[in-house]
Amino acid sequence: MVSLATSTFSRNLFPRPSLPYVVRALGTTLLQLHPKPTSWGPLSSSWKSCSAHFSASSFNLSKSQNETLGSQDDLVVLGIETSCDDTAAAIVRSNGDILSQVVSSQADLLARYGGVAPKMAEGAHMQVIDRVVQDALENANLTERDLSAVAVTIGPGLSLCLRVGVQKARKIAGSHNLPIVGVHHMEAHALVARLIEKDLQFPFMALLISGGHNLLILARDLGHYIQLGTTIDDAIGEAYDKTAKWLGLDLRRSGGPAIEELAREGDAKAVKFSTPMKQHKDCNFSYAGLKTQVRLAIESRNINAEIPISSASSEDRSSRADIAASFQRVAVLHLEERCERAIEWALKIEPSIKHLVVSGGVASNQYVRAQLDQVVKKKSLQLVCPPPSLCTDNGVMVAWTGLEHFRMGRYDPPPPANEPEDYVYDLRPRWPLGEEYSEGRSEARSLRTARIHPSLTSLIQASMQQQS
Ligand code: KG4
Ligand code: ZN
Repeated sequence: MVSLATSTFSRNLFPRPSLPYVVRALGTTLLQLHPKPTSWGPLSSSWKSCSAHFSASSFNLSKSQNETLGSQDDLVVLGIETSCDDTAAAIVRSNGDILSQVVSSQADLLARYGGVAPKMAEGAHMQVIDRVVQDALENANLTERDLSAVAVTIGPGLSLCLRVGVQKARKIAGSHNLPIVGVHHMEAHALVARLIEKDLQFPFMALLISGGHNLLILARDLGHYIQLGTTIDDAIGEAYDKTAKWLGLDLRRSGGPAIEELAREGDAKAVKFSTPMKQHKDCNFSYAGLKTQVRLAIESRNINAEIPISSASSEDRSSRADIAASFQRVAVLHLEERCERAIEWALKIEPSIKHLVVSGGVASNQYVRAQLDQVVKKKSLQLVCPPPSLCTDNGVMVAWTGLEHFRMGRYDPPPPANEPEDYVYDLRPRWPLGEEYSEGRSEARSLRTARIHPSLTSLIQASMQQQS
């Protein structure tokens, strides 16, 4: 288990115990403003029949009231993340101080089985979740009573895994009468940049690159996103992971860092891979074809993944390094080209945009950052990249996103203290962040996803319309 104490943590070794009173007082104010339970939805059992039950009072705070809360509050939120293969928890204060951050990684399992097996990942989450949350509280020198709310990832991700985090979050919230905020994993990857960069105001753009997602979004406001592009098959992180596996690299820190390291030794022009989707003048991504090109290049050079890179001859090693470097150059060039076009599109919609956020596990890569920095500078924007520990999956991003919504009055009331073990949670394993931008729309896909999976943005907008 990795326990990450951040630099802000050391400034907060002795958080003051008077917090519960401030927080409880604020909680009371909120509840008084909302005589009915302030259910913003995704976690409440009534959410499936959502709009009818979606209490209009849940967004009753006027703008000025919200601004007051936003500036004067002193909230402390626990964030829990179990959507994929990392079990993470963190505690964040509303001024942006990270009081604790704990991540337990399943990298060993990944290395052994070469991918995430949902049942195994669920078991691994269940084994460590109590310890991870307890460590987060202890490292912050707090107890559950000091919390203002619990935030937890409810999607997208693997149902079995999401369930472990949601069950834990509801148990804590139920036992300590705490509000609960259901968080969108990809929104959290984007919004954590606002914790790091205090000048980062809406609207901004974000490129979110991880193992399962490749998203280009325009963030117009909190909870209001336009999807400019997404992957039509694999995400870039998946391509890094498979390339690393086929090259016989050490996967214990996941494939991405292993490729990044080996690529430094290689010649990025040695293997001629073609850049995906050149003929498609949109902002979508595709990595399946590049993966195939890499596999064929590996086969044609007789590279044997059974021989670990540590035992490879120097000639073999340099051949693997050339493939790693050539793959990385083209994989990232694809990002660069799509970002450049997306910036043009986004500036047409929101000319005041100043920042491109790059986040998600792959954004920890130094080459990715350097290349995208050049693109962004060319367009006179600024790149915002969270530090690597906040780019890969973590609890801080969930706590912070929970905080942002909580301040706006978007949360569910505390669940009952004795919720049955077999309670059916409303998890959202497939959950779009926003609607597709018309110029980048793939009709077949958007109709399909819109019908089955309403986006976070559409849910929030529907609830806001109900109030007005
Ligand atoms: O965001 P994340 O931690 O989990 C998901 O939501 O998927 O991203 C994990 C992905 C993995 O594919 C991993 O190989 C990749 O991020 N990754 C990297 C680097 N660090 C992590 N890819 C390239 N370079 C890195 N340094
Ligand atoms: Zn992620």
